[in-house]
Amino acid sequence: MAKILITSGPTRQFLDPVRYLTNASSGRMGSALAAAALELGHEVLVVSGPVSLEYPPGAQVVSVVTTDEMLAAAEQEFPACEGLIGVAAPCDYQPLKVAEEKIAKTGGPLALHLVETPDIVATLASKKRADQWAVGFALETQDHRFRALAKLERKSCDLMILNGPAAMNADQNDVEIIDPTGAVLEAAAGKKQDVARRIMAMIQKRLIGG
Ligand code: C5P
Repeated sequence: MAKILITSGPTRQFLDPVRYLTNASSGRMGSALAAAALELGHEVLVVSGPVSLEYPPGAQVVSVVTTDEMLAAAEQEFPACEGLIGVAAPCDYQPLKVAEEKIAKTGGPLALHLVETPDIVATLASKKRADQWAVGFALETQDHRFRALAKLERKSCDLMILNGPAAMNADQNDVEIIDPTGAVLEAAAGKKQDVARRIMAMIQKRLIGG
């Protein structure tokens, strides 16, 4: 049995007290992976951004809002976990400055100065111990496998799950599981629950063992 950390759902980056940037993630794939990991007898801790679904009752859930909060919670939990599945879609950009008051409309265009948020998977996986593993997700619209492999390397992942934009907020998913040599270990399509079981079976075989 392993303890598995799953980052799931979107994060929010506020521009002012009422407006925020976010990502069109529902948390469904994260919830399906949590259920599949629990079915295999693993302990599951989900760090989730704001979602409207319920995670499986057996999973421990830590709720966060921003990417920085997701990183802080994940960094705190990861040392006690054997593996990380980064299925969250954290908001990649945040405003350089958050306005203290609501930004008033002027009738003209509004320019936003955005800076990148920290990359949670890359930060955690770059510091992983020899007995820890990390699995990332790559949502690509072009040069799919090439970009997914580059992401696997950049983010120090042991496996990368490649999917397309049709996965966002949908019941179904269509994925390829890519290893560090770029080999496609498996392709799986169908309901997110079934795809999650196939991904967990591969994680079990390649990374958890036993
Ligand atoms: O770079 P991109 O967002 O396409 O990478 C996707 C992978 O990186 C996913 O596993 C996602 O959870 C993770 N990620 C992250 N922190 C970010 C952005 C992406 O952990 N700020």
